[in-house]
Amino acid sequence: ETYAMLHAPILAHRRLVPDDAPLELAVVIPTRNEAGNVAALLTALEAALGDIVWEAIFVDDDSPDGTADVIREIGRTNIRVRVLQRIGRKGLASAVVEGMLATAAPVLAVIDADHQHDETLLPRLYAAVRMGGHDVAVGSRYIEGGGVGQWEARRHAGSRWATALAQRLLGRSKMDGPMIGDPMSGYFAISRDAFREVLPNLSSVGFKILLDILASAPRPLNVVELPYVFRNRTVGESKLDLMVAFEYLELLLDKTLGRLLPLRLMLFAVVGGLGLAVHLAVLGIALGTGLTAFATAQALAVGAAMTFNFTLNNVFTYRDRRLRGLRLVTGLLSFYGVCLVGAAANVGVGALVYDAQHVWWLAGVAGAVIGAVWNFAASSVVTWRR
Ligand code: GDD
Ligand code: MN
Repeated sequence: ETYAMLHAPILAHRRLVPDDAPLELAVVIPTRNEAGNVAALLTALEAALGDIVWEAIFVDDDSPDGTADVIREIGRTNIRVRVLQRIGRKGLASAVVEGMLATAAPVLAVIDADHQHDETLLPRLYAAVRMGGHDVAVGSRYIEGGGVGQWEARRHAGSRWATALAQRLLGRSKMDGPMIGDPMSGYFAISRDAFREVLPNLSSVGFKILLDILASAPRPLNVVELPYVFRNRTVGESKLDLMVAFEYLELLLDKTLGRLLPLRLMLFAVVGGLGLAVHLAVLGIALGTGLTAFATAQALAVGAAMTFNFTLNNVFTYRDRRLRGLRLVTGLLSFYGVCLVGAAANVGVGALVYDAQHVWWLAGVAGAVIGAVWNFAASSVVTWRR
């Protein structure tokens, strides 16, 4: 009797969802500083989902506002609710993937925690996958009946532009049917089987997990879009910032050239190209002052370019392993060391090729490529080691 009293809320819930009713739907909810939104979201989901047997899997990136603890508190009396707490901020797309991997449900849905996605559409997204036989059902802002509410003109234009880019990337090959209107949506349901098929090809970078899924499909997916109106956020703040926009470009890069080259190598190469421009600018300015000999000016330019490359790689290419504090200093010194060895390899290989072929530009390019590959490989294990 004491046991029954202590566990009354849990037992009451068990009666609602009998043991023999199999789980039908997992609702994956990525969170970052959403403590003020989760309770009301769960209430809204309960009301919307009716007698579907579902569970909520929150994936929280260690929110400083204590979101994970708020969810755990609810989870003590509501066995539908679980939270996967990750340490540090790792990003929306990878949060969704990990949440989907953590459930036994046959249909996997994603919804934002901030009430911007209209949860009353969720039963129809679920039904379209479960009963309708679609691989993916997308809550869409950009088809008849959908909309974005009141957005500032800038966000509107940005979203349109990003959508057009995504549609170009997807082409018609990835979908069995018409071009998707809202590939940037973060609100959708997918069958476990389709998710399993795309999983090996996912980039899991940035915000756009649906686009990632569609572009990763090994066969054309059967996608249906259902309209909804994107609401305004009333509690908490959006996490969309410049880094998220940058990560979107990363996703596009990985989806187009990722089969040929690792994303990190591509970023490292872009930074290297910018570093060359810095090198030439510093060299030109130093010589222009007329105060330095060529060798001194060149040494200055090399130092500036190495420091520039280190900084950019630390902020972008290796932002997941970013060095701070004292390790920033030791990291910079190790990067200088790596680059000096790379320069020696560059000169050595260039000379070898020149001796054999006597084609100056071929020797130059060969030396530069070997030097760059060395810099990339060595700095990844020395400067930005895990
Ligand atoms: N775990 C985790 N990690 N969650 C995150 C992160 C993160 O780094 N960044 C954001 N989130 C969570 C937020 O807490 C929220 O629940 C959801 O992801 C969406 O983040 P917002 O910051 O509210 O993004 P938004 O409103 O600009 O854009 C969203 O809506 C669009 C329209 O459907 C995103 O979901 C877009 O992907 C989506 O297209
Ligand atoms: Mn939002």
